[in-house]
Amino acid sequence: MPFKRIRIFGDCLSFILIVSQLWSNINCQKPGYEIHTDEIVHVQRGLCTYVPCKFTVPTTIILRRNTNGFWLTSRAKTVAVAYRINSLYYTNGRFYLIGDVTRGDCSFYIEEPRSIDEGVYAFRIEDPQAQFTYTDTLPYVDVTELTDKPTISSTRLVDGEEVTMTCTSPGKCRSIVPTYISWEGAMTGTRLMIYNISYEDGSRTFHSNITFTPRKSHNNSPFLCRVGFKEGLFTMDKQMLNVEYSPSMIITTEGVDANDTASVIVEDGDSVTLNCIVDSNPNASVIWYKEDMVVHRNMNKQVVTLQLINITESDAGRYQCSAMNEHGVAKKSIQIIYLSTMPESSPVIAAAVGGAMFLLLIILIGVLLFMYFRKKGQHISDGNLKDASGNYINEIYSYPEFTTPDVSPPEKTLQKEVNAVDDAIYVNSDDVQYSRLAFSKNKHKVIQEQEDIEIEYSEIKKVPHK
Ligand SMILES: *[C@@H]1O[C@H](CO)[C@@H](O)[C@H](O)[C@H]1NC(C)=O
Repeated sequence: MPFKRIRIFGDCLSFILIVSQLWSNINCQKPGYEIHTDEIVHVQRGLCTYVPCKFTVPTTIILRRNTNGFWLTSRAKTVAVAYRINSLYYTNGRFYLIGDVTRGDCSFYIEEPRSIDEGVYAFRIEDPQAQFTYTDTLPYVDVTELTDKPTISSTRLVDGEEVTMTCTSPGKCRSIVPTYISWEGAMTGTRLMIYNISYEDGSRTFHSNITFTPRKSHNNSPFLCRVGFKEGLFTMDKQMLNVEYSPSMIITTEGVDANDTASVIVEDGDSVTLNCIVDSNPNASVIWYKEDMVVHRNMNKQVVTLQLINITESDAGRYQCSAMNEHGVAKKSIQIIYLSTMPESSPVIAAAVGGAMFLLLIILIGVLLFMYFRKKGQHISDGNLKDASGNYINEIYSYPEFTTPDVSPPEKTLQKEVNAVDDAIYVNSDDVQYSRLAFSKNKHKVIQEQEDIEIEYSEIKKVPHK
């Protein structure tokens, strides 16, 4: 677009003078001439700014097709940076007068400014009837660094589901075209598509579509969109990929040695901590069950701990952790196996042991009774032998009618034992008769054990030697 430098002369002859507002106001302000626009205009390097502006003229003046408009800058000399003369618009390539001057519109637009564009600007009209520079508002153009970032669409990412994300270059400008729009990050298998969208006012926006399939492993990894402009200028937006996925979990135990994660063996009084460690995005609702009964629930924490303190038998069983989010469910269970340290605590065992002990007690009583009476009735054994029954003990009680010591020789089958007790038999002969009569029938069956008999003899032997 052609740009001609022109010098402006008018009622405020030098633009230098209007930079000093006080002075210019005194000299230039006239009733009916008003301007409404921004006092300060910020424009970023590489980008653009549109500034609305309205002006008025006294009612005696009618704006016509041959009314010319100028935007003047104070830089160096008073020059017009943009103007309209005879329906033609001119620009210096960065500052544009875009308003329709014949309608009182002085709107302007600045694109890809340079540092030299910083400063005060003034609007002026020139008409056969009026030449006037507006000084009540002198917009100051502030050129700043490029800080606007590209916009990355907030697309929901789900593990395994292909998506398209869009990066939009900052600015909606007329002639600015980014030199590149690029993506950086862990995304793989990507397809890129760069396009622009044009608007009615002649401005455009620039976009890049990236199509890829996010994976769980991409979650929380950085990615960015970078947009480059002329002269090495660039801007970027960096984000973390937020990839959603269904839960997975592990169960760990504390307080006991667990060979595997499927079961732990506990004893009475143990304490066990079961940790359900869930990995999911978004957070899962985590529930601990014991045999299908909910025992612990947490919607926010992803490490949900179940503590079993001072374990008793009733704590044993299957514990299951379940984690669910909108993408799926994960479940794992662990068996708590209770090992009793005291076997009699089992009712069956206790009954068996009790029964056995009772039996032993009866036997013991029997043996003691037997020994007692045996001591008092040694002499009877000789009488027994006469029967040749083969059972010495039985004979003692079976023949209560023997009342006198029998000194006949012992039977051959019982030689040794009988010889040993010979003396005793004589000593105790008188006493035995009474006791024998009283108890022989009752105790007969119980006292059968051969072992008991042997013990008995050893005691009997001692008696005669005392
Ligand atoms: C870019 O991606 C957006 C979002 O998926 C889509 O609406 C648009 O049509 C795509 N544009 C092109 C040109 O592919």
